[in-house]
Amino acid sequence: MAEALTLLLLPGMLLCGLLIHTVIQREAEVKLRKRPNFIVILADDIGWGDLDVNNPEGRTNSTPYLNLMARQGLRLTDFHSPASTCSPSRAAILTGRYGLRNGVTHNFGVNSVAGLPLSEVTLSELLQKAGYYTAMIGKWHLGHNGPYGPTSRGFDYYLGIPYSNDMGCTDAPGYNLPPCLPCGSPGPQVIRSGSNMLRRSVHGGCYSKVGLPLIENSSIVEQPLDLWTLTEQYKSAAQRIIRDARARGQPFLLYIALAHMHVPLAPPPAPVALLPAQYPRDGAYAASLQEMDALVGAVQAASDDTDKDNTLIWFTGDNGPWEEKCQYAGSVGPFTGRWQNDQGGGSAKQTTWEGGHRVPTVVYWPGRIPANTTSSALLRHADFPHVPRLIKLPQIPLGMDIFPTLLSLAGVATPSDRSYDGIDATSVLLHQEHRGHEFLLHPNSGAAGTYGDLQTARVGKHKAFYITGGAQRCRGGTGQQQLHDPPLIFDLERDEAEERPLQVDTPEYQEAARRIARRREELLWDIATDKSVSTADYQADQSAAPCCDRRQAVCRCPTPL
Ligand SMILES: *[C@@H]1O[C@H](CO)[C@@H](O)[C@H](O)[C@H]1NC(C)=O
Ligand SMILES: *[C@@H]1O[C@H](CO)[C@@H](O)[C@H](O)[C@H]1NC(C)=O
Repeated sequence: MAEALTLLLLPGMLLCGLLIHTVIQREAEVKLRKRPNFIVILADDIGWGDLDVNNPEGRTNSTPYLNLMARQGLRLTDFHSPASTCSPSRAAILTGRYGLRNGVTHNFGVNSVAGLPLSEVTLSELLQKAGYYTAMIGKWHLGHNGPYGPTSRGFDYYLGIPYSNDMGCTDAPGYNLPPCLPCGSPGPQVIRSGSNMLRRSVHGGCYSKVGLPLIENSSIVEQPLDLWTLTEQYKSAAQRIIRDARARGQPFLLYIALAHMHVPLAPPPAPVALLPAQYPRDGAYAASLQEMDALVGAVQAASDDTDKDNTLIWFTGDNGPWEEKCQYAGSVGPFTGRWQNDQGGGSAKQTTWEGGHRVPTVVYWPGRIPANTTSSALLRHADFPHVPRLIKLPQIPLGMDIFPTLLSLAGVATPSDRSYDGIDATSVLLHQEHRGHEFLLHPNSGAAGTYGDLQTARVGKHKAFYITGGAQRCRGGTGQQQLHDPPLIFDLERDEAEERPLQVDTPEYQEAARRIARRREELLWDIATDKSVSTADYQADQSAAPCCDRRQAVCRCPTPL
């Protein structure tokens, strides 16, 4: 049976180690060792196929640093973000709980008054209390007012933008095609020449600015923001945080939520002053991907230079690529969601097709996580001849596992007053043990009206859809939302593209439907009777928008003299 525990090429020594390795020993291990540092890097809207090692046929050669990190660590090919859009995914990662429990079922806006409910306990709060230095760089998107900002939610330090790149107007309707008017600006920086628009100044020009605030701790330090400088600012902040924490001898959590690969992209300028729209096809995206990869490489290098053997780096994504952005969206690899495409409609970000939540994931910890390992519930070893050891695991790891796993590695107990959906994946990472989720729920985070609902559920290789449709395709329509009773069920092992649902009258369908329905009912009952469920306040008010100076167009900060 395909779902049976299957071990491929597991070295005998490791197997022996598994048998004698008890929980007690592990706890003793944590006490004896120095407490580890954690770097969690969350890319935005990245595609599973954007990682070269996931998609050898893609041949873009855009991720050399991540390829190397995968070779030196563990690549999880069947790893899933907890939701298919930004805020719900981030809330679930930081709380270890589904949106149905933590209250965050869809995105917060520029005018959102509140954010992640204050009744929720974050990973950063728990590690901070345990003596960790906690810093965050990048996109927060869990509420930006008063007690909802990162420095009130357990982070000692914060540098970043409060929500997505495209949630501020831009000075020129650029390659991102944001649906907003040009910002008021000191003067036109974009000139027309024949049919082409040329940027007058490559760096610092008005063109690259977006009406977003850059926030340090809880103050706006730049607005509008020059996206071209952001990578460098994030990089030097990360290097400084890693270095300083090491100098103090304090363990740290560094959570980096990258602006990459969300539009508007700000790829490094081409040699001639071309508009990014004039990059070769996919050039702007590939150039941004390379820039992101180099940033990850710089963070890894800073960590390797300081406390290499004591730092775990976990790279993953918040959701799949934003398909409607066409050439400015990433690649889903083989997870194309064909059934949905055939019906019209997109099958990546905002959807529960594999392209919406299966995210590229690499976990790196020299000396602790064996190098050159890949774990997958589904992929065959033959797909990866260049990877010497592929360990086939039936477990399906999930973004929410980051919370209990890091706490466990730090020797910090999870609060016992609430239920968690993430599970401790320490043994999966360090010992290739076969523990994990047999059951996955993919909440709807794209289609209004049913936010947070259990749209799709998976047991092993079988995945059932109760609702389909609702996201826009590149230059295509938005698939009509359809309810399915009985659900559509796909076999991900035979049909990773989710093209042909199983015939309802087959024994395979009947058996899978029974198992999925039972697990789904159990989870729904557990959530319905969970006394620790929070409700998020999605109220909006214009005065809630972060603004440097309301009298100025796009809230411009005073220009330093
Ligand atoms: C943010 O906090 C750090 C200390 O953690 C401090 O050095 C820095 O000046 C603060 N920045 C702002 C803009 O307040
Ligand atoms: C991983 O495997 C590759 C290819 O087989 C090999 O070149 C490399 O040295 C291995 N790396 C480690 C750290 O074992």
